[in-house]
Amino acid sequence: MSTKSKVQHRKSLTSQQVERISPSGIRKFFDLLASIEGVISLGVGEPDFPTPRHISEAAIHSLEKGYTMYTSNSGMPELRQELSRYLKDNYNLAYDPNSELLITVGVSEGLDLTMRAILDPGDEVIMPDPCYVSYSPCVTLAGGTPVMVPTNQENNFEISPADIEARVTSRTKAILIGYPANPTGAVMTRDKLSQIAEVARRHQLLVISDEIYAKLVYGVEHTCFATLPDMKENTILLSGFSKAYAMTGWRIGYAAATREVIAAMTKIHQYTMMCVPTMAQVAGIEALKSGEDSITEMVEEYKRRRLVIVKGLNDIGLACFEPRGAFYAFPSIKITGMTSEEFAERLLIEEKVAVVPGTAFGQCGEGYVRCCYATSLADIEEALSRMKRFVDKHRVV
Ligand SMILES: Cc1ncc(COP(=O)(O)O)c(C=O)c1O
Repeated sequence: MSTKSKVQHRKSLTSQQVERISPSGIRKFFDLLASIEGVISLGVGEPDFPTPRHISEAAIHSLEKGYTMYTSNSGMPELRQELSRYLKDNYNLAYDPNSELLITVGVSEGLDLTMRAILDPGDEVIMPDPCYVSYSPCVTLAGGTPVMVPTNQENNFEISPADIEARVTSRTKAILIGYPANPTGAVMTRDKLSQIAEVARRHQLLVISDEIYAKLVYGVEHTCFATLPDMKENTILLSGFSKAYAMTGWRIGYAAATREVIAAMTKIHQYTMMCVPTMAQVAGIEALKSGEDSITEMVEEYKRRRLVIVKGLNDIGLACFEPRGAFYAFPSIKITGMTSEEFAERLLIEEKVAVVPGTAFGQCGEGYVRCCYATSLADIEEALSRMKRFVDKHRVV
């Protein structure tokens, strides 16, 4: 056989499963950003605050005391106990620390474990579009099929219970929601969530509820999905420390669910991750014990910035619905006639302001960009004045 025909018949080096997903639209954009000087970034979705000092110190002391070994696969017993107390105090939910909680490498690992633990090939998971970048790929990588439900500015980017029900088939396994939402900042009312719970009950579906932004709400209440009647048994609650405690780099989160689901997730976690880094777990204990004041201070600051950015975007002509949670504004850029990707790229090159194209979060993100306001007020104001110049130059309507 000639060399040529050998090459032609070589097997693909990577799996079809991986080929089915695309690299994150956010990452692609940040590679471009890194090559330009003097950029104001409203791009990356993480707090600009450092981790509160007392949390970092707890971890530093633990290293000095020699806490450098593996922990239990499920997470340090003291952390699980503290988490169980926290969920009881915050939501009046009783999770057994020994069997119903798992400490994960952020919500990122929680999402991956959840999908691999619950899905068989071809099972469907219903989720909103736009939504957090990992949702759909995690389903695909686990052999499942993501089923998107369009949401829009007119309905405040809330997924409609009727639209969910219209997409239920015999293969539907779960509904995946995340409120407060990334990229829109939308928050769902208890009433709307109860209607989703009703659909889940009627069709015996699991609900995966990503509540990583639960503490970052402005003038509204966050409803923990598992607190809805009969929902604790059918909900996989995912949350973590990254956003509320400004701990993105520590890589720690958790899953709370039934004994059966947590056991399945732990089986995968123990062979793939073993355990979450020990010092991050120690920091997690300190955060749960005494991190509340730091959250309050950060939320006060986000509140101020939110008012400035939402008003500023609307004044420029970029219609922006009022986000009630997280730290994102999601304005429409339709008056420029550009696609989201074109808008983000040209704004970056012409005015050195980084925003993320709405399409990084799904097809329904077309016509929008995500602006993260977890950055200083001074930078937000400067970014707004650059964006005004850009929009004045390019608006077509
Ligand atoms: C909605 C949502 N879920 C999960 C994550 C991942 O969080 P973690 O740092 O806990 O892995 C993010 C991060 O941006 C997010 O926005």
